[in-house]
Amino acid sequence: MATSPEAQAAVPRAVVEGLVVEVPPTGPVVEVPPTGPVVTDVPGWEGPDGEGPDGEAPVEQEARSRVAAVATAITARDRRPGSRVLGVSGTRRPYPPHLWRYVDRVPPTARPVVLDVDTGVDDACALLLAATHPALQLRAVTCVGGNAPVDDVVRNTLTVLEAAGRSDVPVARGAERPLLEHPTDARHVHGEDGMGDLGWPAPTLRPEPRHAVELLRDTCMAAADAGEQVTLVPTAPLTNIALLLRTYPATARGIAEIVFMGGAAQSGNATASAEFNVFHDPEAAAIALDAAADLAIPVTMYGLDVFYDPVVAAAEADELVAVGGRGAAELAGRLIQFQCERFGRDAATIGDAGAVCAVLDPGGLTTQVLPIRVELAGRWSRGRTIVDRRDWSGDLSHDPHGEPPVRVRVALGVAHERYSALWRDTILSAGATR
Ligand code: BDR
Ligand code: CA
Repeated sequence: MATSPEAQAAVPRAVVEGLVVEVPPTGPVVEVPPTGPVVTDVPGWEGPDGEGPDGEAPVEQEARSRVAAVATAITARDRRPGSRVLGVSGTRRPYPPHLWRYVDRVPPTARPVVLDVDTGVDDACALLLAATHPALQLRAVTCVGGNAPVDDVVRNTLTVLEAAGRSDVPVARGAERPLLEHPTDARHVHGEDGMGDLGWPAPTLRPEPRHAVELLRDTCMAAADAGEQVTLVPTAPLTNIALLLRTYPATARGIAEIVFMGGAAQSGNATASAEFNVFHDPEAAAIALDAAADLAIPVTMYGLDVFYDPVVAAAEADELVAVGGRGAAELAGRLIQFQCERFGRDAATIGDAGAVCAVLDPGGLTTQVLPIRVELAGRWSRGRTIVDRRDWSGDLSHDPHGEPPVRVRVALGVAHERYSALWRDTILSAGATR
């Protein structure tokens, strides 16, 4: 039954979260864009007066059972031979107009990713998304000193993966210090333990014996040998990545692209000029970008120009915490609550998780491919990513610096509500999984 826009605006809406149908190799179940959720009407919930078809109030419990029933029916109807339902998790909060369903298109083979992290409250947010989204295969996680000393980073990373029920993901310890700089940390932002001082139980998981650079090498080479490529998502100082690309350039065969959190076209955070990850190890950032250009690996910079925009409200964090069970959702909510309390705000950024969103939903970014240099010398500007936004069609023959040899795809804008919803909805769907 079609509904007019006016009527749609007046009737209740619920959201089916996590209704994920795997698309068989022979073709999609529904025609959807390759990124982001698609929404279609669910028949049978189109009462005119803020009520369902049978006159009942749109209370959550009622909507939840209706949604589950409708979702099951639709899933059965749309299913093609070989497809598989990955999860149906229910509804979310009050329902403005109409009942919808979300069907994520999951490629037959989910995209392989590797995260390089300095966990880190917001690295934890990134790990939770990468560990729970069905369109990603998290193949490995490598650790580097940054927000906290590397041993704390390893422990925090294992804690997150254990909460997400991902004991299958190998984790390795990497560089404990920058290439030249003295190691520092950001405990004033991330807490004494580097991950919000939540009092969360210590993990039972252990890192593996390989060094992070070896795990990165082996994962990329294994992908290449299998005819695949992984997407590298560094959300930390680029020390491990610089060492990888210079030591084992052949790994480029197994790398589809690098989507890194770091840098800024505008202003910094560690200093007025420089963003923390690049400031912490500027030489590594310069080497990683240079090596990627040499090896023709495409690079996207998810920097401070977009980093703070996707946020989750404190009230939504409470909802995540209420799931309980010390799983992905509770941990995610506690991380957001920590940031809200520490900075006295009623919402907090998902931070590094935005870089994972950029892998899942690249269309949510506004980008420009721009020349870039890392400032390695400046007294007040060391660690700055100098993004050249001049019009290169002009006469720059008098610029003594010339055009930088490196160009990256720089994120200058983000569909922040879309990314916030992607993060929150994915993790709510994962619920209390441990
Ligand atoms: C970056 O620095 C760290 O504090 C965060 O984890 C993020 O990767 C932001 O500058
Ligand atoms: Ca980080």
